[in-house]
Amino acid sequence: MDTRLIQIRKNVETLSAEEEESLKQAGEVIKRGGLVAFPTETVYGLGGDALNPESARKIYAAKGRPSDNPLIIHISNIEDMERITQEIPEEAACLAAAFWPGPMTMILRKSGEVPHETTGGLDTVAVRMPSDQVARKLITYSGGYVAAPSANLSGKPSPTAVKYVMEDMMGRIDVIIDGGEGRIGLESTIVDMTVMPPRILRPGYITKEMLEKALGEKVDIDVTIMRDDSGQAPKAPGMKYRHYAPKGILTLVEGEPEAVIIYINKQAGLDKEAGEKVGVIGTSEQLMAYRADVVKSVGSRLDEESIAHRLYAVLREFDDEGVTRIYSESFDREGLGQAIMNRLLKAAGHRVVTL
Ligand code: TXA
Ligand code: MG
Repeated sequence: MDTRLIQIRKNVETLSAEEEESLKQAGEVIKRGGLVAFPTETVYGLGGDALNPESARKIYAAKGRPSDNPLIIHISNIEDMERITQEIPEEAACLAAAFWPGPMTMILRKSGEVPHETTGGLDTVAVRMPSDQVARKLITYSGGYVAAPSANLSGKPSPTAVKYVMEDMMGRIDVIIDGGEGRIGLESTIVDMTVMPPRILRPGYITKEMLEKALGEKVDIDVTIMRDDSGQAPKAPGMKYRHYAPKGILTLVEGEPEAVIIYINKQAGLDKEAGEKVGVIGTSEQLMAYRADVVKSVGSRLDEESIAHRLYAVLREFDDEGVTRIYSESFDREGLGQAIMNRLLKAAGHRVVTL
């Protein structure tokens, strides 16, 4: 399949007539049952018509993803939520008003309009209204309901820049829209609104504290988010699959900065003697202290958003460098750190050294 690449400058206030026309055409592609990768403020999505079962099948095929893993339906107006859901609890309306458009996905009971192919056989549906303007225009031109998982091949980190989408999806889908890098870099927060209190199934940029403040009531967190073997099946089916794991064996090291540096340097020395190629994921504050084959900054400890933004790119870069052992600093498990640690723990298969 020939994949067409469309370039859009980020500021849609100044979309040229040509760019507007390209987005319209990309919308037509989705309406006709085709697939279009597009930027969002979190990661790139792989979009198809959410109300067309054939489109869902195509998405699973393009990603190489099991078809019981449900898709998020992206909308461009809050009111559009009504057609695809049964009832909208007051709490859901409250969170939509507080955080949409933005990096939050809500699980609600689905209406008959949503095919089971899109929801992986579930009677609930995941809904999100992204803040990225290019995404919203595309959704509107596509008829209003775009099912989109992250635009990576199954088993790879979600793509935070168009070059990664091209690596994974060239030749597999109809169109790729280049709209620059996502501001956030980690996938949206998923909140299950079919239970009370609402429950976070996947942590993200919108934190538990932010949700609780908006609702004025307690929000739960699925126990499987930070634990390896809780004996409970996660409620977001996607979280049960063996997630992205880097090609090198990744270990997280938790402790005081000095101790972490000493441990990692010692371990890196031993690994090197054993013939391994060693990589380190560090923060800019302590990067100079590491001795290893490849040392990469994931951002600044003083700015967790910088870490969220760069994490997936760093993991992809390590795969390309052919390192066989990777050590990473750890982060706070509160606030945005919870989302960062959730993704790192998965990538590390929960291999953590606590000093
Ligand atoms: O930021 C994001 O959410 C990105 C961008 C493209 O919007 N999308 C994304 O989609 O991360 P995906 O498919 O990679 O992850 C969707 C997650 C999966 O873990 C899936 O199991 C869960 O959402 N999910 C979808 N529908 C669900 C439902 N009805 N009940 C529980 N979990 C659901
Ligand atoms: Mg994904």
